[in-house]
Amino acid sequence: MTTAFADVSAAPLAELLSLVGRQAVVTGGAQGLGKAIALRLAEAGANILIGDLNADRAQAAADDIAARFPVRALGAAMDVADSESVRAAAASAVEELGGIDIWVNNAGIFPSVPVLETPDGTWEQVFAVNTRGVFNGSREAARHMTGADRGGVIINIVSTAGFTGTAPGLSAYVGSKHAVRGMTKQMALEFAPLGIRVLGVAPTFVPTEGNMAAAAAHPPSDSGAAMAVMTNSLIGRMGTPDDIARVVLFCASDLSTIMTGSTLLADAGQTI
Ligand SMILES: NC(=O)c1ccc[n+]([C@@H]2O[C@H](COP(=O)([O-])OP(=O)(O)OC[C@H]3O[C@@H](n4cnc5c(N)ncnc54)[C@H](O)[C@@H]3O)[C@@H](O)[C@H]2O)c1
Repeated sequence: MTTAFADVSAAPLAELLSLVGRQAVVTGGAQGLGKAIALRLAEAGANILIGDLNADRAQAAADDIAARFPVRALGAAMDVADSESVRAAAASAVEELGGIDIWVNNAGIFPSVPVLETPDGTWEQVFAVNTRGVFNGSREAARHMTGADRGGVIINIVSTAGFTGTAPGLSAYVGSKHAVRGMTKQMALEFAPLGIRVLGVAPTFVPTEGNMAAAAAHPPSDSGAAMAVMTNSLIGRMGTPDDIARVVLFCASDLSTIMTGSTLLADAGQTI
């Protein structure tokens, strides 16, 4: 049966922006963009489950959120590449928060290795986390949203690397993010009759714990090209994690009910 998305055109702005009474899962939310996203969703009133490979940091992030906003926030161990692990964390969200209305597929890895030096395992790992991880999370989210007959929103964190080539060394990453953009379209088609919207958000380069550590550990082979990608911004500064989180909040809220299947470029004009 097809579920029509509600027409909220007459609703006041504060109501459209509010996520009070909704439950959100953010994968890879212990730090970086995911933590910033979880903070804004919580500020809008959503209860939050942060699923992360690093369970201790997930719990610390959840504790921080619960200290700042009057919502429930939980941390859980989750490996998005492992469907059983995703299933268990989703079940915790349903059991402890009461359901899943918003699922943000944010967890991702970005090893920088030139194609000629890339071992098979590195390529497999990038696709396991960045692409299969999005599939695993979306499938699990949609199962719960459908089972509870409540619809919902799934948001995939893509990248400008889902639209264009980027700094040398990121072929597996670019491939994985183009695939996520494709899945965003296809799942939107398949889930629309279930009342579930699927959107992508494609950030430009934003300094985070993860990419700063990666750059320090493995300086890019072509640092000039990498720097050109990083500093390519029309807004006169680099983006911040919160710049991206506010776009995700728009997607998660009823402000964006007309949208599904598209990927929003949050790119400081990088790709025009
Ligand atoms: N920061 C950027 O410049 C940028 C730009 C475009 C897109 N992105 C995308 O945004 C997302 C977050 O990037 P970030 O810069 O915040 O990264 P980050 O490394 O700072 O944080 C990523 C988090 O994901 C977790 N994680 C890694 N593998 C996981 C797995 N298998 N299962 C669950 N959790 C896992 C890590 O423990 C970490 O907490 C990624 O998908 C990345 O591709 C980032």
